[in-house]
Amino acid sequence: MTELFFEPPSPPAPMPLDAPLGPIGTLRVLRKNPIETWTKAHFELPILIGPTILGTIAVINDPAAIRRVFVENAGNYRKDALQKRILGQGLSEGLLEAEGDDWRMQRRTLAPLFTPKTVNSFSRAFAAAAAEHVARWGRMREGRMIDVRPEMGRVTLDVLGRTIFSDGLGQDLDQFVAATSDYFASVGRLDIFDLLDFPDWVPRWGKIGNRDGEKFFASVVDTIVAKRKRLLASDKETVPRDILTLLLEAQDPQTGSGLSDTEVRANILTFIAAGHETTANALTWSLFLLSLSEEWRQRLAAEADAVLPGPVEEYPARLVETRAVIEEAMRLYPPVASMSRQAIGPDDLAGKRIRKNSLVIVSQWVLHRHRLLWDKPNSFDPRRFLPGAREKIDRFSYLPFGAGPRVCIGASFSLQEASIILAYIMRSFSLELKENHVVKPVQRITLRPDGGLPMILRRR
Ligand code: HEM
Repeated sequence: MTELFFEPPSPPAPMPLDAPLGPIGTLRVLRKNPIETWTKAHFELPILIGPTILGTIAVINDPAAIRRVFVENAGNYRKDALQKRILGQGLSEGLLEAEGDDWRMQRRTLAPLFTPKTVNSFSRAFAAAAAEHVARWGRMREGRMIDVRPEMGRVTLDVLGRTIFSDGLGQDLDQFVAATSDYFASVGRLDIFDLLDFPDWVPRWGKIGNRDGEKFFASVVDTIVAKRKRLLASDKETVPRDILTLLLEAQDPQTGSGLSDTEVRANILTFIAAGHETTANALTWSLFLLSLSEEWRQRLAAEADAVLPGPVEEYPARLVETRAVIEEAMRLYPPVASMSRQAIGPDDLAGKRIRKNSLVIVSQWVLHRHRLLWDKPNSFDPRRFLPGAREKIDRFSYLPFGAGPRVCIGASFSLQEASIILAYIMRSFSLELKENHVVKPVQRITLRPDGGLPMILRRR
């Protein structure tokens, strides 16, 4: 790492390349770790456009051009086929993958599930999952080594279990956690056949094993949905007001029609797929970055002491520094490290012509560390996100949750959830990175520490 790119002390990141790789090298690195394909020029220029092995690609880092793609001219850009292939069949009828009128109908119908009022009504579930998680760690011996990544996956899945199916998964949490992680680990790997746009009927080796995972999910979810429908039909008064009930009752405000069974199931899978690993990684990176900063560990512990266990409704407004750390962690290690769109027709972005069918990429990994947009871009400094400084960040320079009509529907859900979980952890524990462990970020749908994050559990 040279001083040119990484002002010391900077948390780990691959050194950008001096020049782009050749076609074979690009494919190899894309499969291994896409964030290693970026060159220094990507971190310095507002737009780079050119032919690649995957067709013409424009990588944009200019906030005005990003606003044009995601908001002003959003109708000219659609989600590309590659993204859909990576995420798999199970989600194809859900909000994340829907397009056109189908997407508009689903977004209108699902919006009430994620209003601030509904999300606030979940705070209790967030706090209960966090308290149970911390109690579990409390039963472990002092100095024990834990892998923080699956631990955070466990707690965020528990939150989704409590908020989607509040009367229980009807399954052992450990079994569900194991099946989820197997399923999404294989779904999330870039397949060379996907990259080269081979037709869908060509088998993808990495995905052959995950059919069992897909079937397991479908069967658990179908059983729960059928049970809830019976309850809704027989005794409406006692039905829990969780996401499942809201999904079954949801109506399109324009037409009054509800979601089909397939759409209900696809959206449950979508919420788990989109909300589980992403939030778990935001928490994992926050804990890693906190292990590097005595100052911020102390600040968060003090904030947690002051706020918990007060009234749950006040947590979101009062966990200000905790939230700043999570936002800074998502800047340096964005759980969703890139987004892509295909241009339906030509356009002009940042002074360059975009041709029909070009792929437009906005990489949060690059954007959030871009030298034209951030001061000391590679340093960990949560002050950027404290009130007073936060408002000065351009809306289109910081996109952990995307932007425009397709912005993450679960953004405030996950920010509240993550703040509450982190505060519970910081109130009771201080985590140290295992000595000599080398942390390496790797992009596999979500951005995670390669090989997990071994840390030593210390009580405060
Ligand atoms: C830290 C946590 C999370 C991050 C970083 C994240 C990030 C994102 C991003 C970047 C997008 C836009 C993708 C694009 O435009 O190509 C997105 C969309 C979406 N997210 Fe999240 N997400 C998180 C948590 C959640 C949660 C908790 C849920 C649900 C419970 C969720 C559900 C969705 C859905 C359904 C979409 C598609 C929205 C649409 O196309 O209308 N996400 N998310």
